[in-house]
Amino acid sequence: MKKLLALGISFIALNAQAAEGNTAISNESATPKILVAYYSWSGNTKQVAEAIHDKIGGDLFAIETVQTYPEEYRATTEQAKKEINEGFRPDLKTKVADIAQYDVIFLGSPNWWGTIAPAVSSFLESYDLNGKTVIPFITHGSGGVQNTVSTIKEQCQGCQISDNPWVGYSNTTTGLDAWLENLGYKVK
Ligand SMILES: Cc1cc2nc3c(=O)[nH]c(=O)nc-3n(C[C@H](O)[C@H](O)[C@H](O)COP(=O)(O)O)c2cc1C
Repeated sequence: MKKLLALGISFIALNAQAAEGNTAISNESATPKILVAYYSWSGNTKQVAEAIHDKIGGDLFAIETVQTYPEEYRATTEQAKKEINEGFRPDLKTKVADIAQYDVIFLGSPNWWGTIAPAVSSFLESYDLNGKTVIPFITHGSGGVQNTVSTIKEQCQGCQISDNPWVGYSNTTTGLDAWLENLGYKVK
């Protein structure tokens, strides 16, 4: 009888533990950890990244290159054209401390020659992003999305790339709230 009682008590204790464990797990998945990572040469993508971060939280991360681009627009476009044609990957100055902790990565790039900036390719190749949700946000000078998102898809094969990227002219944030809400985020 004592044995049966003891067994009964440990069974209840085990169940209680399991229930606690389950609660902890479901809480974790209910609040995915967000990283808002971006590269920006002239500040537009940075402004959109900051707006996303202000509205939904998470951690903000600036992708920066060791070697900076020229100050002058035309010289930068020439250098960028060469780098993109040659598949050059600039070394990055900044590093995400622990990428494994993030479930969702908002990834921002300017449209450079119809594709993403080489620094963003370096970022994609620097980390194991397998299984993570990647939500691209692209700023452009009137070309729109072009091959930016398809290049992210190519270069981040294990990722789940959102089919609903942000594509905005220059630094516009008009419609950002609706976009985030449509993705399922609560906007501050
Ligand atoms: C090197 C370079 C190449 C660019 N190529 C394009 C392009 O092909 N199509 C386009 O619409 N805008 C192009 N732009 C304009 C940028 O995409 C646009 O200004 C963007 O918002 C800049 O973002 P940023 O301020 O974060 O660097 C280019 C700008 C630079 C500097």
